[in-house]
Amino acid sequence: MSDKNNNAPQLDPGVDDAWVSVIRKMDEAYADLVHSQVEVEEKNAELQENKQFLDSVQSSMSDVLIVCDHLGQIQQVNRALEMLTGKLGDQLVGSHFTDLVDPRFLQKVNGLINQVRVQPVRDCEIELQGVDGSVPLSMNCSPRKNHRGRLVGMVLIGRPLGELQKAYIELNSAHAELKLAQERLVQSEKMASLGRLVAGVAHELNNPISFVYGNMHALQRYTDRLSQYFDAINEGQSRDKLKEMREELRLDKLIRDLNSLVAGTMEGADRVKEIVNDLKQFSSTQESEKTVFDLTHVIRTALHWIIKESKQPVEVIDLIPSDLKAVGHSGQIHQVVVNLVQNAVDAMQGCDQQCLTLEAESFNDRIEFKVSDTGPGVCEEDLSRLFDPFFTTKPVGQGTGLGLSISYGIVSEHGGELRILNRDEGGAMAILVLPTEEVSNV
Ligand SMILES: Nc1ncnc2c1ncn2[C@@H]1O[C@H](COP(=O)(O)OP(=O)(O)OP(=O)(O)O)[C@@H](O)[C@H]1O
Ligand SMILES: [Mg+2]
Repeated sequence: MSDKNNNAPQLDPGVDDAWVSVIRKMDEAYADLVHSQVEVEEKNAELQENKQFLDSVQSSMSDVLIVCDHLGQIQQVNRALEMLTGKLGDQLVGSHFTDLVDPRFLQKVNGLINQVRVQPVRDCEIELQGVDGSVPLSMNCSPRKNHRGRLVGMVLIGRPLGELQKAYIELNSAHAELKLAQERLVQSEKMASLGRLVAGVAHELNNPISFVYGNMHALQRYTDRLSQYFDAINEGQSRDKLKEMREELRLDKLIRDLNSLVAGTMEGADRVKEIVNDLKQFSSTQESEKTVFDLTHVIRTALHWIIKESKQPVEVIDLIPSDLKAVGHSGQIHQVVVNLVQNAVDAMQGCDQQCLTLEAESFNDRIEFKVSDTGPGVCEEDLSRLFDPFFTTKPVGQGTGLGLSISYGIVSEHGGELRILNRDEGGAMAILVLPTEEVSNV
């Protein structure tokens, strides 16, 4: 043995060192390999996690998702598309996405593919062939680019239109109902304003009617007396007798009275006609052409009726110039003025001093009409809400809160302005600006 050992070739120490270094290098390489393996496994786990996350996001999407390459071949889909088409993802991947499209929409889809090269396509309505027939979808289509910005495909996301359409129809019918309710409210507000005026109008009509009635009574008595006299003439009574009768029946005074009785009756009838005309104007619902109208008359009629009906001791300062002309619908402006004056009168209810001032000034292109009162004014926090529909501080049943909101609409439609402010000296002031006849392009 020992011989053998002794005869064994002796290794050069330099060769030993080489081996050691080779083995060390191998150890190091192996350690690196193990390290890389661990890293790869960690990355794999991370990738797996990311994939699961993306899968779960995709499968919980209710919109359908189709990812294609630049030729339109499907690379990925989500569960919503699988459900819609009744096919599994594996069956869909690799097919051309136009295979899913209802043939009636193929042309549109081809256009879409070309368009998406230039810019994303939004809300394009197409139909896909679903498991139970065609399904309309609103499609958004975006280009997919690689890291160098080159187009490599596109991403299509579609929302089934059934739901959108249902929501749209519901929205539409809710809107129509609201519009109808609004129209009814506008009309009922108009009727309410009209109702407030009815008592005033009744008073107003009463005056000329009782006047006409009284005159007719007098005329009836006069007719009796005249008949007696003419009968006597017919019977051939003597001159003296006729003279006596004439004095007894006071025929000379009667004849002097006749003219003024007839004139008075005519005046009364004219007044009735005027009132009826004003009323007709106010209650008219049909939209007529805008015309030049007498704003002074409109303001005075509104004022007159409200004050007549009001039981409050209101002092009125009327500084309105005569013959102011504005352009628009006189009936509608009447409604606005009624509301402004009524609001001012209502605001002063119970106040010691109740003074209503009406002023108007005419400028080149407009008229400014102001209604001031000596009421409590409007609280700061309410100022911005006055024109809101249904905003009212009046007790239930005494105000709908629509007066100013409707007035605002009418005035805007006339190309005018309506403002309410508090006066420094107390009370509120409503300012109505209306175009004059010079700007008849409203
Ligand atoms: N001159 C005023 N002084 C004080 N407050 C006012 C005046 N004018 C309007 N307001 C306030 O504005 C609110 C809304 O007025 P608007 O005319 O719109 O409705 P309303 O008068 O309450 O009811 P209606 O529908 O019968 O007119 C009133 O309730 C009141 O609080
Ligand atoms: Mg009002």
